[in-house]
Amino acid sequence: MNLLKNCAYGFLLLSLTLANLQCKNEKNNNVQVAEIEVAPEKKTVGITKNIFGITPDGEKVERYTLRNDSGVEVDIITYGGIITSLKAPDKNGVAEDVVLGYNRFNQYLDKSPYFGSIIGRYGNRIAKGKFTIGDKEYNLAQNNGENHLHGGLKGFDKVIWEPSVEKGTDFVSLKLSYLSKDMEEGFPGNLNVTVTYILTSDSSLKMLYEATTDKTTIVNLTNHSYFNLSADFSQTVLDHEVTLNADRYLPVDETLIPTGELASVEGTPFDFREPKTIREDIGKQNDQLTIGGGFDHCWVINDQDSGVRLAATVYHPASGRVLEVLTDEPGVQFYSGNFLDGTLPAKNGGTYGQRSGFCLETEHYPDSPNQSDFPSVLLNPGETYNSQTVYRFSTK
Ligand code: GLA
Repeated sequence: MNLLKNCAYGFLLLSLTLANLQCKNEKNNNVQVAEIEVAPEKKTVGITKNIFGITPDGEKVERYTLRNDSGVEVDIITYGGIITSLKAPDKNGVAEDVVLGYNRFNQYLDKSPYFGSIIGRYGNRIAKGKFTIGDKEYNLAQNNGENHLHGGLKGFDKVIWEPSVEKGTDFVSLKLSYLSKDMEEGFPGNLNVTVTYILTSDSSLKMLYEATTDKTTIVNLTNHSYFNLSADFSQTVLDHEVTLNADRYLPVDETLIPTGELASVEGTPFDFREPKTIREDIGKQNDQLTIGGGFDHCWVINDQDSGVRLAATVYHPASGRVLEVLTDEPGVQFYSGNFLDGTLPAKNGGTYGQRSGFCLETEHYPDSPNQSDFPSVLLNPGETYNSQTVYRFSTK
């Protein structure tokens, strides 16, 4: 009973301290606005914010930190909705940062291969930057050779999102909103987009995507986090064991546009139906691997009518960390960090070398607007685009 009383007193003190801290800092117009919930069982699902940087136009970039009671802590900034840090415990309970990115805001402005960002309006490539809706042709930036990639020159990864925060007893969430104006980056329709990051006390980071438009348009949103579950960015991810719930994948042409075929993975390096290290087949003689410089393909996730289901599991034996990716999307782009070339500075010293991170970008298939057999990416006025992805962390 005494213990209980002491705890309650402790929580009260903590709350008062935090409340004070908040007042002080708001007065100073300064960092660290603390809003931490402390539930009776000592759970500390919480969210704090500070200033991460200022854009060249003078806009403030905020960084929100979402944390749960199991040691998972996620930093997300309002520029590009970028996950700048994601700490997850290893098998000994040591929480470390497992995503590539930068310590300083200016580094994101200088050059980033979409580290941790929201991608839109269109994730991955559109052939020759062209598509038609009805009989009207639209032209997009050809920012990847002759093709369009990841929303264009100033995609959703480079805009400021409007934040709003919500807290429950077992979750915290950061909702980011953005209005993409009619013809921004060449896409038709005023598109109202929200991306909500929800961290739960069972160590799932959920991403809920929603969008509405006033003209028929195309939408394909994703997150471009690069993971290295070792938390040591000087190591490659080749020892990670990957399982993909996919019997088929999309072969690509030399410019990484799908040929249209849904090919069986059976007997190919693309068969990840049983756990396999990335290292095992990535060096095999195979035309598709040559084109991609490794894995950079969209897998056709099985059970497409089942809503949110397991798409991928990645296990890092040395740390014991496990990442599961669940989604209601038809595809997942498994990218083995082939274009990382040792020129970008890593967070904890050194640089990001080739294959120092992998991405699992849940998505509709690349180039869908030009491939009538692929599931549609059209969004009409009156409809709501809805998509869900979950990054779930555990250890074994
Ligand atoms: C995606 C693409 C890759 C590459 C990266 C960003 O994953 O499929 O080819 O462009 O984004 O570097």
